[in-house]
Amino acid sequence: MIRDGNINRQHHYWDNLAREAIFTHPFYLNKIQKFISTDSKILDYGCGYGRICQILWDKGYRNLMGVDISPKMIRRGNSLYPHLMLVQLDPDTLWSESDRFNLVILFSVLTCIPELAALQELLKRIHQVMAPQGYLYISDTLVQTDPRNVKRYEQFFGEYRTYGVFRLPEGGIFRHFLVDDIYRLTAHFEPVFTDLIDVMTLHHHPAKGFQYFCKKVS
Ligand SMILES: C[S@@+](CC[C@H](N)C(=O)[O-])C[C@H]1O[C@@H](n2cnc3c(N)ncnc32)[C@H](O)[C@@H]1O
Repeated sequence: MIRDGNINRQHHYWDNLAREAIFTHPFYLNKIQKFISTDSKILDYGCGYGRICQILWDKGYRNLMGVDISPKMIRRGNSLYPHLMLVQLDPDTLWSESDRFNLVILFSVLTCIPELAALQELLKRIHQVMAPQGYLYISDTLVQTDPRNVKRYEQFFGEYRTYGVFRLPEGGIFRHFLVDDIYRLTAHFEPVFTDLIDVMTLHHHPAKGFQYFCKKVS
C-alpha cells in the first residue's frame, strides 16, 4: 500500500515494482528522428529502469539524462545500463536549469499523477527546462470504454472527483486521459503529430493509448 500522503508522488508503489516491472509503451524513434539530432540534449522524465534512454543510446544519442522518483527503479537502471546517466529526481537541481533540453520524453508518467494541479505544474516546469523550439514526446493511456475500466472510474469518481482516476487493490493510483486533456495541458506547445496506439497495462491488459509529439513555441 502507498504510505506517502502525496498521491502525485507514489515512490513507494514504484519502488515495490522496481525489481520485476516491464514497461512497454512503444518508442517510435523512426517517427521523431528527423526532429532530433544525435547531439540533442534529451531528458527522459520518469525514466523507470532506463529502457528508452538505452534505445536512444543504441542509435548514437549520448546527451541523455533519465530521472525518476523511485530510487529502486534508478538502481535497477544503473545496474542494467551503467553507461547511462539515470538519477533519482532532484527537483531543486532539475528545475533550476533553463532552456536546456531539446527533447523531453514523458512515457507513461502522466498516468501516475492523478491531480490536475500537479500535472499542470509538471508541464509548466518541463516547458521551462526545454530549449527554444524543443520537442516533447508523450505516450499515455486513454480513458477506456470497456466495462472493467468504466466500473472502476465510476467507483472512484466520488473519492477523486475525476472520471478516469482509479486505485489498484495494491494501492497505486492512476489516471487515464482524453486526448483533449493532454492538448489542454500542453497549450504552450504546437502539435506535430498525435497517434492512437494499442498498449499493454502493467497488469498485461490490452488498452487504448495515444502518443503526442509537440514543439515548444513560446
Ligand atoms: C509506467 S512507468 C514508465 C517508465 C518509463 N517511462 C518507460 O516507459 O519505460 C512510470 C515511471 O514514472 C515514475 N514516476 C511516477 N510518478 C512520478 C513523478 N511524479 N515524477 C517522476 N517520476 C515519476 C515511476 O517511478 C515509474 O518509474
